[in-house]
Amino acid sequence: MNTENKISKAALDKLFAAALAARENAYAPYSHFAVGAAVQTPSGDVFAGANVENAAYPAGCCAETGAIAAMVAAGGRQIADVLVIADCDRGILPCGACRQRIAEFATEDAMVHSAGPDGVRKSIRFAALLPEAFDRETLDSEPVRAV
Ligand code: THU
Repeated sequence: MNTENKISKAALDKLFAAALAARENAYAPYSHFAVGAAVQTPSGDVFAGANVENAAYPAGCCAETGAIAAMVAAGGRQIADVLVIADCDRGILPCGACRQRIAEFATEDAMVHSAGPDGVRKSIRFAALLPEAFDRETLDSEPVRAV
C-alpha cells in the first residue's frame, strides 16, 4: 500500500465492500468483465456503481460513471477516494474517460485504490493517473488571440 494513503482501514474496508456488492450486480453480458466502483467523499459518504453494458456497445457505462452519478445525485461534489474492483490478474485502474470524470471532483490528494476479489492491491495518487488534465481553469483561462 502506498504510504501517501491516509484513508483508515475501516473506511477502505467500507469502500471495498460497497464496490464488491455493486460488482455483483454488474450488467456485462457482452464483455463478461464485471466491474464495481465506489467513491468516498471527504465527509465519508460512499457511493457505488457497476458497469452497465448495452447491445449498442458505445452506450454502455463504466462502474465509475455510475458511482459518480450517484454521488452527484445525492449532492456530493468532492471525491477523496475511489476504489475500482474487477477480477483480473493485471489489476484494474479507471479508463481514460473515467479519469477525466474523476478529475472533475477529485480533491488535491485523492487516491485511487485498485482491487481484486481478494482485496485492495495497490493505491495510487489520482494526480499521477491524469497529470495536466483539461479542467475548469483551462476553460476559464484568457484567450491569447481572440477569434
Ligand atoms: N469498465 C469499467 O466499468 N471501468 C473501467 O475503468 C474500465 C472498463 C467496463 C466497461 C465495460 O463494460 C467493461 O468494463 C469492458 O470494457
